[in-house]
Amino acid sequence: MTQQIEMTSDEDVRARVEELLAQLTPAEKAGQLTQYFYMDFMRDQAKDGAPTQPELVEAAMARGGVGSLLFLTDPAEINRLQKATIEGNRHGIPALVGFDVIHGFRTILPVPIALAASWDPALIEQGQAVAAREARAVGIHWAFAPMVDIARDPRWGRIIEGAGEDPYLGGHVAAAQVRGFQGARLGTPDRVIAGPKHFAGYGAALGGRDYDESNISDAELWNIYFPPFKAAIDAGAGNIMSAYMDLNGVPAAGNQWLLNDVLRDGLGFDGFVVSDAQAVHDLATHHFAADLSDAAARALNAGNDMEMTFVDPAFDHLVAAVEDGRVTTERLDTAVRRVLEAKVRLGLFENPYVDEAEAQQVLADPAHREVAKIAAQRSAVLLRNDGDVLPLSTDRLDSVAVIGPLADSPRDTLGPWIFNHDLSETVTLLDGIRARVGELAEVRFAPGVRPSFRTFASMFDMWPGNTPEDPEDFDDDAELAKAAELAASSDVAVLVAGEWQNMIGESASRSSLELPGRQLELIQAVVATGTPTVLLVMNGRPLDLRWPAENVPAILDVWYPGSQGGHAVAALLFGDDSPAGKLPFTWPRTVGQVPMIYNSTRSHQPDRQDRRYWDEESTPLFPFGYGLSYGSFSYGAPTLSADHIAVGDTLTVSVTVTNDGSQPAEEVVQLYLHQRYGTSSRPVRELKGFRRVAIDAGSSATVEFTLGPDELRYWSAVTRDWVQDATTYDLGVGGDSTVELGTTFTVR
Ligand code: BGC
Repeated sequence: MTQQIEMTSDEDVRARVEELLAQLTPAEKAGQLTQYFYMDFMRDQAKDGAPTQPELVEAAMARGGVGSLLFLTDPAEINRLQKATIEGNRHGIPALVGFDVIHGFRTILPVPIALAASWDPALIEQGQAVAAREARAVGIHWAFAPMVDIARDPRWGRIIEGAGEDPYLGGHVAAAQVRGFQGARLGTPDRVIAGPKHFAGYGAALGGRDYDESNISDAELWNIYFPPFKAAIDAGAGNIMSAYMDLNGVPAAGNQWLLNDVLRDGLGFDGFVVSDAQAVHDLATHHFAADLSDAAARALNAGNDMEMTFVDPAFDHLVAAVEDGRVTTERLDTAVRRVLEAKVRLGLFENPYVDEAEAQQVLADPAHREVAKIAAQRSAVLLRNDGDVLPLSTDRLDSVAVIGPLADSPRDTLGPWIFNHDLSETVTLLDGIRARVGELAEVRFAPGVRPSFRTFASMFDMWPGNTPEDPEDFDDDAELAKAAELAASSDVAVLVAGEWQNMIGESASRSSLELPGRQLELIQAVVATGTPTVLLVMNGRPLDLRWPAENVPAILDVWYPGSQGGHAVAALLFGDDSPAGKLPFTWPRTVGQVPMIYNSTRSHQPDRQDRRYWDEESTPLFPFGYGLSYGSFSYGAPTLSADHIAVGDTLTVSVTVTNDGSQPAEEVVQLYLHQRYGTSSRPVRELKGFRRVAIDAGSSATVEFTLGPDELRYWSAVTRDWVQDATTYDLGVGGDSTVELGTTFTVR
């Protein structure tokens, strides 16, 4: 069976939707707006004869009460439940099947923050197209992704799901992901609906504590938090998920201003909005709505079209709310129209089922693994390489010590938010190094520290294999000593340290950024042997690397690199490819500096940064946009097409970049801009252009950027609107956010 459908005209789609809508009762309409989790593993959790969660969903299905399902991955099961949904309603309307396809489905890509570190939109688009193809093959129609929440506080665990701190980079990464998931338009074969989330401001959770309130000024909302959503919407995103928390004192899911005025009128979104899981119920939990019925009416009126829930949908109360006038039929119909339109556009009425055998072939496609490998290679960020320790050469090595339990943990190599992976085909860092080195050198492994010492329960523990096993009889002191001995007797030590994957993600915030457990001690013991040491960091947030940054000569951030991570990292270690990723966030020295961003505004005594803290530097450990490579780049002075332009005009900036090194390498060329004066004060610098370019050894490339109203305007709290000032700008182009802004132009 093929998912290929004839593209119908917008007019035909609308006519079909209206025809269906006219036949639905209010209860059937409410059913279309209800999305149920289907938690298969709860099948065996019956209590006192009460129906289980899956039984409740199937009962709702049988009475036409299900518009959408989530958390299903098995094609046979999806076909079965799709059939039950279609047969359960008088009009044969299929369910939209949604899932958290965050960084791959079977083929696991590096985690989203890592993809952002590639600064490579084309690669990111290609990666999410692979994820979409696999998901669609099993019967999933919709990804709850990309997460485009700006995150400026690494204590917040969900920083790993986004593109970091910057709205410009975040916007480009968001748009690339939407194009990858959805293709050119809704209904593109082998693609799924993209659902950017969580609208809006979730990343600013107070203290980094997941789900806590966000208090964000309007200027920050428009200039920092909304732009990635705008970019995702402009790229065609068919869905948006509203957020859990209170934004400025109003729950995001009950916030009319946010979901109507901003999202629809301000950002031009015309798809459907889904609530986050149980977030409509939460309107009562927040002590905002009086009860579930009030919550349902206010959630719908605020702008949510669909409710995501486990059991007991609040939206069951919509029928009564329409009857007593709290919700208009018009508003109910608008929501249903949007949902039906998505189903029609996806071709679900013609092709509700998938071919299970074909699905297995798609999941096994070797081309997908190749994309994952390239993505992992391109995401890694070289943080330090003193004395050119890297790349390693097998000509000069007889023995390699690989140290740290994360080096040999398939589950951790993949990162959080995956449910359909295959551990047996996951290439760990140890596997990858062994495969690369082959017979050329001896590779020996020691964990050094125990793989499990975690003291909190992750919300993902209910999925088997998500929590590392604590080995019995693990003698911590003896293992640490053994690892140091191994390092001492090897030509090079490759140490892997970081966070276990379940220490980061949803419901996994931290109050510290230290390396968990005894990992720092392990690093210190290995370095003390005098053996040249390379530190590979597995993480999704910046960690406290103050000691390693001064004492370990080579540090490569490999993130959670995904299915092919080991092969990718080995290729970088041994110089088959050069790292070229750049940090998508400012890397603080210590948690006490958080939040720390590169694009803050100037203030009293800007040159006395030493007056910011007396007990710590006020600079980061590594700046935003930073990353080294095996090449060595020099930048010519930027040349401008004009020294002055009029408000509304554009100018071009070109710069020549030369690779002075002896290896071909890639560089992410970044343009930063500062506005000297204007209606509001503006950040010390802002990213306004970037391009990842490959340059041969000894060669140059000329990179061009355009600056116009889109780059120069901003939202001002003075005018409470977008402004572009007549003013002077300082500009610089370089390899990270510390580049000198030595070129000037004016706007008149
Ligand atoms: C998360 C969402 C996710 C949803 C469904 C929620 O807890 O906040 O990001 O899409 O669960 O799994």
